[in-house]
Formats: sequence, structure tokens, C-alpha cells
Amino acid sequence: MVLGVFVPSSRDRCGVRRDLYFLWFVGLLCVFGCAAESPLAVEEAAGAEEALTLDELGHAIRGGLLFQFETFDGNDRTCGTCHLVTSRFDLAPEDVQRAFAEDPNDPTFRPVDADVEGGDTYDRIREDGLVRVHVVLAPNVTVDEVDGVNVQVRPDGRYVVALRRATPTSINSALNDHLMWDGREGTDLAHQALSAALDHAEALRLPTESELADIAFFQEQLFSSAALREYAHGGPEPTLPHGRDDSEERGRAFFLDEPLSASAGTHGLCATCHAGPMLNRTGHFNPGDPPDLPFSGNRTSQFNRRGLPEYTYHVTLAADHLNDNPRIGPIGMPMWPAGMTFTLQSPDPGVLVVDADPSDGSDGPANPCITTAACLVAAPGGATEFHRMPTLWGSARTAPYFHDNSAATFEDVARHYREFFAPTQASMYAQAAFMESIGQLEVAAAIRDEADALTITDQDVADIAAYMRYAFR
Ligand code: HEC
Ligand code: HEC
Repeated sequence: MVLGVFVPSSRDRCGVRRDLYFLWFVGLLCVFGCAAESPLAVEEAAGAEEALTLDELGHAIRGGLLFQFETFDGNDRTCGTCHLVTSRFDLAPEDVQRAFAEDPNDPTFRPVDADVEGGDTYDRIREDGLVRVHVVLAPNVTVDEVDGVNVQVRPDGRYVVALRRATPTSINSALNDHLMWDGREGTDLAHQALSAALDHAEALRLPTESELADIAFFQEQLFSSAALREYAHGGPEPTLPHGRDDSEERGRAFFLDEPLSASAGTHGLCATCHAGPMLNRTGHFNPGDPPDLPFSGNRTSQFNRRGLPEYTYHVTLAADHLNDNPRIGPIGMPMWPAGMTFTLQSPDPGVLVVDADPSDGSDGPANPCITTAACLVAAPGGATEFHRMPTLWGSARTAPYFHDNSAATFEDVARHYREFFAPTQASMYAQAAFMESIGQLEVAAAIRDEADALTITDQDVADIAAYMRYAFR
């Protein structure tokens, strides 16, 4: 009886099932009074020691119902249209295909996400699962290809670009301090919900502050494991579990924040960017960047396997850039002067065109020199695209991967990185050969040893994927 009350009569069969499932899920929240990211995790949830207070429970349930059912008088979409309770709160191409097969008028299919914005065919979203996001660029960024649809200029002079991006899961949001693929929403889940209601759901009624707080609170109860939930509540940092066999254990070595050395048998390769408790920060042995940065480039945009349209961005440096990397030179050494313009052509420039530190609450300028290393690559003609490192916890159940859904499996991900590391490795071998030619044999050997550690063999691909499937459930 109670369930029926919340199911809007206009829903199709598939929608009704999803809604019932959602209510069951929220029911679990009530029963266990704590976070269950899916009913499969009930055991873990039941084991968690802290329950929500009655007040918090009300907050979470209100948020959950808004998340699943509230359209804000828009285009019929809710948060749950794209962050599917049946798909670990994200949206995979299969989900889109299933929704289309069951009802071509499902709210997933709205003109804002048509093949051509405003149109009525949906072949692209059905194939790649990507959703259109209207990103407002920082005030120091301009774009050449203004067409009034994909690239627009607002009356205040700010450029708005329609980018097609994968829907990340909202599980573990409480632990995510760089929301969105470019980090532009920082930690502000309430503001993020407002942006989503306006952009994706084309809301005609503004969500109230308390509604936004409820939606944020609901999402803050979603974790991929009891260990992460405990960590969010001040418990110990999550650690990498050991593999159950030799293959998984070899795969695990790629995630240890240890020196890159082929001869020492440790790999640490993935940990150069996926380190720290959430596996979303640069590690201590990243050869290019200092540790603890939330952003990096893994060339997803450069490879552009989805063939997304590219635009030309110009970013003017708002302040002098001083060196911040001890590996490059003295800290504080002047590098690039304010006013210098960086130009890049890209399907998705990520953080380079939005405020690079949204977590400080400002609406500041974009910074193409997120780090000196990035800036060195960027100057003077083109820049590498940087995105926030997603956490890997929970990722075994949120395929496909990357901001353009271009890697279908963990094997594809590992092969992506083989391609990613190839040019760096080639240049390191060239450097080693040069050192050998001038008799610097020890230096050459050290460079070779590090470069060898960048190799990803077919066996490594299998090991990395096996470990990830087990450890990042
Ligand atoms: C049409 C599909 C769609 C709808 C509807 C939608 N989202 Fe999203 N959501 C996305 C996409 C795509 C992104 C990534 C956007 C980006 O990076 O620029 C995203 C990002 C997020 C993130 C950040 C996750 C992360 O890892 O950074 C959160 C949290 C989120 N959405 C919550 C919501 C909430 C709350 C609502 C409802 C108010 C909502 N979304 C509605 C597609 C959607
Ligand atoms: C140079 C930094 C860097 C290195 C090294 C690196 N990553 Fe990443 N990783 C990133 C960035 C940045 C993203 C987000 C890319 C995007 O979609 O634009 C990412 C995304 C991912 C994702 C996608 C997660 C999701 O939710 O879509 C997976 C999985 C992943 N990396 C696994 C790995 C593995 C495995 C390795 C080692 C073989 C590795 N990464 C090495 C920077 C790195």
C-alpha cells in the first residue's frame, strides 16, 4: 500500500519496476538505518555500527524520494533517470538501450539529449550512453566555434559549451571532493543537484534549499562498501586488499604507491595517479607531478575514441605562474607571465577551462597551469587535457569507463594505459641511450629500470583486470 502511494501513474512498466525497486532500497535504509549502496550490501550495512538518528533518517528518505521522483516541473526527468538505482546509480549504454526498447518516450530521451540538440533522434546516446552537459567556462576562456547551440556566449560574456559526458555514479559522493569530470562542483552536492535539475531536467520550479540539502544528504548515505562508510565517518583509511591468487596479487602491485622499478619487482604504475585512500590523487612516485594532486591527464580526450566534436579553446593565464615542482627547478621560479594565452583543440578539455579549484567556493579563472608539468607541455601551442581522477572503489560495477565511456572493460582500461605510456617510455629509452653514449652508465641504467616499469604486457592486462574486479567491487 505504502509503495503504491509514491508511484506516479504516468510511468511505464519499466519505470514502475525501477521505482518499486528504489522504494525497496529506501526501505532498507529505514530498516538498517545506514548506508546500503545496493540491497546486495545489506549484510555490510547491517554490520556498520553507527545508525542514522530518526531525524537524519527522515532527511535521507525525503532526499531519496526527491532523487527518484521529483521532476521540478521540468521535462519529466529525475535524478534517478540517469543515476539508476538498478545500475549502481550510474547510466551505462545498456541501460539506455533497455529504456528505449521498453519505451522510446522514456524521460532519458529528451530533445536536450537528441543526436542534434533539440532534435528527435537518439542514436548516439543509445550507442555511447553519453549525456549532454552545458559547461559554463571560466571568464578567462573563449572558444572559436560559436554556433548558438553547441557553443554559446551568455549575455555576461561567459562561454557555454555542450559537452557529451558519461554519467558517474553518485555512490561514494560523500568522499568525493572534486565532483564532475572537471571537478567544477568541488564538494558542493547541493549546488550540484541544483545545476543538474536546471540542466538535465530543465526544471521550471527552482528546488528549495531544503530540498537540495535532502538530496545531498541522501547521496551522502551511498557507499560502495562498509569500509568506505566507516572512513567517511572518521574511521580508518581503506586499504588495498590482498589478491586471492598470484594473478590478483601481481595486479595489486600496480596500485602500490612505491618507486617505479622493473628490477625491484614493484610496479606502482597505476598508483602514480590513483593513490591515497580514495585512489584519486597523484602518488609519491609520479615522475612528472608532485603527490596529492586531484587532477591529471590520461589522454582519453587526445585519443578521442568516440570521435566527439573538437572545439578550439583559448585560455589566458590570469596570474603569473611560478614553478611549483621541485623536479623542474627551484620553487617560485617565474615560468609564464599573466596574460599569456594557451590554445588547445579538444573534444573535452576538462579542468583546463573551468575554475581549477572549485572547492574553495570561488568562481575563479581557469588555470591552464594546474601544475608546472602540465604547463610545460601546454606551452606555447597546445595543452594536455586534465580531468579529475575518479575513485576506483566500487568501479568493478560501473563499467564502461572514462568520461566518454570509451573503455568497456578493465582489460580495455589496462590496454588504454599501455598506449598512454608508450610515448613516455620511448622518450625515456631515448634519454637512457643518450646517457649511455656519453658514458653515464649508472644514470642510464636507472632510467631504463624506471622505463621498463612502464611496460604493460598481456599478462599484466589480465592481472590488473583480475585484481580490479575483485578489489574494487
Ligand atoms: C540526463 C542525465 C542526468 C540527470 C537527470 C542527472 N544527472 Fe547527475 N550527472 C550526469 C552526468 C552526465 C554527470 C557528469 C557531468 C560532468 O562531469 O560535467 C553527472 C554528475 C553527477 C554527480 C557527480 C558525480 C561525480 O562523480 O563527480 C552527482 C553527485 C550527480 N550527478 C547527482 C545528480 C542529482 C542529485 C541529480 C538530480 C537533481 C542528477 N544528478 C541528475 C547525468 C545526469
Ligand atoms: C597519469 C595519471 C594516471 C595514471 C598513471 C593512471 N590513471 Fe587511471 N585515470 C586518470 C584520469 C585523469 C582518469 C579520468 C580520465 C577521463 O575520463 O578523462 C582516470 C580514470 C581511470 C578509470 C575510470 C574510472 C571511471 O569511473 O570511469 C579507471 C578504471 C582507471 N583510471 C584505472 C587505471 C589503471 C588500471 C591504471 C594503471 C594501469 C591507471 N588508471 C593509471 C589518471 C591516471
